[in-house]
Amino acid sequence: MSDDTSRHIKASMEPDIQSIVDRIKTGKATRIVVLTGAGISTGAGIPDFRSPNTGLYDKLAPLRLPYPEAIFHVNYFSHTPEPFYAIARARHPGNLKPTVTHAFLALLAKKNLLHFVFTQNIDGLEQDAGVPPDKVLWTHGNWKSQHCYKCKSSYPDDLMNKAIRTGEVPYCLDTGCGGAVKPDVVFFGQSLSAEFDEKEKEVLEADLMLVMGTSLRVAPCSRLPRLVRRGIPRVLINNEKAGDLGNRDDDVCILGSCDDGVRQLADALGWGEDLNDLWEEAVATKKNDQTFEGGPSLDECIEKLASSIKDKMKVSDGHKRMLENHLNSKFGHIITKGHG
Ligand code: OAD
Repeated sequence: MSDDTSRHIKASMEPDIQSIVDRIKTGKATRIVVLTGAGISTGAGIPDFRSPNTGLYDKLAPLRLPYPEAIFHVNYFSHTPEPFYAIARARHPGNLKPTVTHAFLALLAKKNLLHFVFTQNIDGLEQDAGVPPDKVLWTHGNWKSQHCYKCKSSYPDDLMNKAIRTGEVPYCLDTGCGGAVKPDVVFFGQSLSAEFDEKEKEVLEADLMLVMGTSLRVAPCSRLPRLVRRGIPRVLINNEKAGDLGNRDDDVCILGSCDDGVRQLADALGWGEDLNDLWEEAVATKKNDQTFEGGPSLDECIEKLASSIKDKMKVSDGHKRMLENHLNSKFGHIITKGHG
């Protein structure tokens, strides 16, 4: 996985929702392919990554990481897994409820219009909302299993849950190995599953593409919208423009919240009530996972780690005097008080 910052956006235009509604109503769109990102789950209470101020990467500033994405980079994790575990509980999907947007995907599936969903999210809320799992590829993996990053041994679920609950890094049970255990989510520096290459072809079969809640800044998912055949509409439902969506004549950009955007579409299609019913059912059905109930907020987790880092780096006055005395007695001729 890598960053993809190439963006070519044409001038903004009014969304032509009616053209999409007509296409669906006249049966011209029956193989809808969807690409989703963190923005479809912010309504469930989990911050996205790159939104200024509210996104995870801005919130991580107090941790002074070498760069924000380092927290999810496999090389950084290999020697400093603490930041990942400090925030893991606050991002764990245990107690999240599906949003209206997740329910909209389930509604498309129910109406036999959903060809395939590529999600970059690891929260599993698509399935919780009722999207059949064989219609979804969790391109960046999930929290359901975990392995030692080093020797790849598996690690028991109950111990992993405990680690996420307490924020303490779990280490490989093979004491000779000592590697940190990592959930089977795809980190930067790792490859996506081979299934991605296989499923990518589904995009060529799309007769409509929906792109929702993603900045399209991370490859390889960012390239999927460009694979849509010419003449096939691509609909972006997002707070901001993303990738090259809006550049083609048939593109439709509905800027604003995903939940509002899908409601607008559903209402125009006459599906408003169905959508609401499905959403309410999904919210009621999702059981809370007591393992993760009542944990600290993301901001509290970050604050706690930031102050523990500060404490570790802090040298007490007494310790400082002892070090100065020691250095003076050893190197007094070259190090004098007030230098260095
Ligand atoms: P980003 O945070 O990069 O982008 C989220 C997009 O959703 C932004 O364009 C927001 O403006 C938009 N957005 C946020 N809330 C919204 C809402 N309620 N309604 C509409 N739009 C909203 O997240 P992704 O594109 O998913 O990978 O990021 C891709 C990958 O980068 C992630 O899977 C993650 C990250 O680093 C790893 O951690 C390995």
